[in-house]
Amino acid sequence: MERYLCWGVLCLLGIGLLQINAFEVEIKNGTNETCIFARMNVSFTIQYETINNTSNNVTFVAPDKVTTEGSNCDFNLLNVHFGNNHSWSLNFTKNGTLYRGDVLTFTYNTNDTELFPDAKRLGLLTSVTRESFFTPVPLNAFYKCVHDDVITTDNVVQLYWNVTLQAYVQNSTLGNESRCSADTPTTPVPTTPVPTTPNVTMPSTTATPPKPTPKPVDKPTTGNYSVSNTTAVCLLVSIGVQFNASMLEDKNVWTVINLNPNSTSSGSCGNDSALLILNDGNTTIVEFHFYLVNGKFHLQEVNVTLTNGSVFFRRSNVNMTLWEAPLGSSYLCRKEQLINVSEDLSINTFDVRVQPFGVGKGGTFDTAFECRLDDDSILIPIIVGAALSAEDCLSVENFTVPIVVGAALGGLVIIVMVVYFIGRRNRRTAGYENFQ
Ligand SMILES: *[C@@H]1O[C@H](CO)[C@@H](O)[C@H](O)[C@H]1NC(C)=O
Ligand SMILES: *[C@@H]1O[C@H](CO)[C@@H](O)[C@H](O)[C@H]1NC(C)=O
Ligand SMILES: *[C@@H]1O[C@H](CO)[C@@H](O)[C@H](O)[C@H]1NC(C)=O
Ligand SMILES: *[C@@H]1O[C@H](CO)[C@@H](O)[C@H](O)[C@H]1NC(C)=O
Ligand SMILES: *[C@@H]1O[C@H](CO)[C@@H](O)[C@H](O)[C@H]1NC(C)=O
Ligand SMILES: *[C@@H]1O[C@H](CO)[C@@H](O)[C@H](O)[C@H]1NC(C)=O
Ligand SMILES: *[C@@H]1O[C@H](CO)[C@@H](O)[C@H](O)[C@H]1NC(C)=O
Ligand SMILES: *[C@@H]1O[C@H](CO)[C@@H](O)[C@H](O)[C@H]1NC(C)=O
Ligand SMILES: *[C@@H]1O[C@H](CO)[C@@H](O)[C@H](O)[C@H]1NC(C)=O
Ligand SMILES: *[C@@H]1O[C@H](CO)[C@@H](O)[C@H](O)[C@H]1NC(C)=O
Ligand SMILES: *[C@@H]1O[C@H](CO)[C@@H](O)[C@H](O)[C@H]1NC(C)=O
Ligand SMILES: *[C@@H]1O[C@H](CO)[C@@H](O)[C@H](O)[C@H]1NC(C)=O
Repeated sequence: MERYLCWGVLCLLGIGLLQINAFEVEIKNGTNETCIFARMNVSFTIQYETINNTSNNVTFVAPDKVTTEGSNCDFNLLNVHFGNNHSWSLNFTKNGTLYRGDVLTFTYNTNDTELFPDAKRLGLLTSVTRESFFTPVPLNAFYKCVHDDVITTDNVVQLYWNVTLQAYVQNSTLGNESRCSADTPTTPVPTTPVPTTPNVTMPSTTATPPKPTPKPVDKPTTGNYSVSNTTAVCLLVSIGVQFNASMLEDKNVWTVINLNPNSTSSGSCGNDSALLILNDGNTTIVEFHFYLVNGKFHLQEVNVTLTNGSVFFRRSNVNMTLWEAPLGSSYLCRKEQLINVSEDLSINTFDVRVQPFGVGKGGTFDTAFECRLDDDSILIPIIVGAALSAEDCLSVENFTVPIVVGAALGGLVIIVMVVYFIGRRNRRTAGYENFQ
């Protein structure tokens, strides 16, 4: 009974402490620029073996006074020391346009007799977890989570709350907020403004079309993008990009977003793969991943990150074969094309010209390898059908028109013939009747 009372008092004390302690650290590089910022509350509950071979638990909170020796901008490493030689470290890793915590190490010192008066094993013990700290957030955004987040390892339970954290900080200023899912209400707040790059249509919530509906939104403006390696331009793209997304608002509401043609481009050029990242610096990031196989390049992977307020959505299609053309040429398609990224996101592209490999010294496009849709001679439905199966260019309106016209004409011919023969037959029958 006394023991329980004691635990209760400790708990109350603990809760009291929980509300006070939060540490805040800022890691700077050689030129005094911040690369990592962190403000968080964290408590540790450690189960340890006592000298009497029993198990005991101790809970303590990281204090607000901490030191940061060992932290390093070059290694994207945050190292925090507190109390009697306890420490906590986290390094970060970035991947494309996102970053996350990589290895989280908590080290506690059982020689600390205040916390571990009866510990059997004395010394520094560590608890290591990988990629558990937070879901990836976009670069130049900070992770924020007011709600509790628990990380459990064999002997240690770490409880985090009210966390604000950014790595890869640019210009010593925090970026946009990226909230953890626990903080975001499950029902989307209808008042949140939607990213409106050039213009956005928002069908009313009462009308609930299950699929993207024809949208009265302007064609996106074509942007010209390039990626350079150390010596020259190695990837060239000219394209108009339009997103059709149903996850930003209600899931039945499709929002059309045109990519700002002033988006910045980045990426990389390799021998057999190349990456183009377009970032409007605000709400939209799209990544195109090209591969070179048997002397032909194609678009294989598209990753899109859209942000609505502090919530971001990432969608990918990693298994496509689009925009295929031989090495040494560029791929050209003036007509609208559809890329299905996920159930709730598709992309329409306009006036595509891409050359992800082998851009010459002049930094200009090589000969265009034109998608078959652009060939206006395709008007006969049969040929269109053949082209459709053989061609990667899957367009919408431009196909349906000739198909519908062709089908209608064919149907008309058949109807006229049927009517003609029936008419003839009836006339003849009538004649026989007259004879009888
Ligand atoms: C770094 O910046 C802080 C405040 O911004 C300033 O007090 C400090 O002197 C600077 N240190 C160096 C080495 O420039
Ligand atoms: C552990 O054992 C010692 C004697 O060996 C005893 O004095 C002490 O009270 C025990 N502690 C607990 C928590 O049982
Ligand atoms: C210590 O914590 C562990 C896990 O958090 C729990 O299973 C165990 O019952 C606790 N032990 C005591 C003595 O409170
Ligand atoms: C993080 O640190 C661990 C060792 O603590 C190391 O193995 C890992 O490669 C580091 N990750 C990055 C991205 O530097
Ligand atoms: C990026 O993420 C993918 C999977 O999400 C992984 O396969 C790849 O190794 C990661 N790259 C780096 C550099 O971490
Ligand atoms: C795109 O997303 C997929 C799946 O999440 C991932 O495996 C891949 O590494 C991403 N590609 C890039 C270039 O980040
Ligand atoms: C979270 O941190 C902010 C800023 O440090 C503080 O104002 C706020 O009261 C904290 N909230 C909770 C629930 O601890
Ligand atoms: C950082 O500052 C430079 C110059 O002040 C500016 O050109 C750049 O856009 C800034 N970058 C960010 C991410 O704010
Ligand atoms: C970012 O998006 C918001 C919301 O649509 C918009 O109000 C703001 O002007 C945009 N900022 C930039 C720099 O494009
Ligand atoms: C966006 O579209 C709405 C409705 O179609 C229109 O009223 C508004 O003027 C447009 N805004 C811009 C900037 O074109
Ligand atoms: C793009 O930048 C140009 C020049 O800075 C500007 O005139 C134009 O309005 C911008 N377009 C958009 C869609 O922001
Ligand atoms: C990609 O698609 C091809 C054929 O469409 C299929 O054979 C392959 O298994 C797919 N790969 C993945 C990773 O989904």
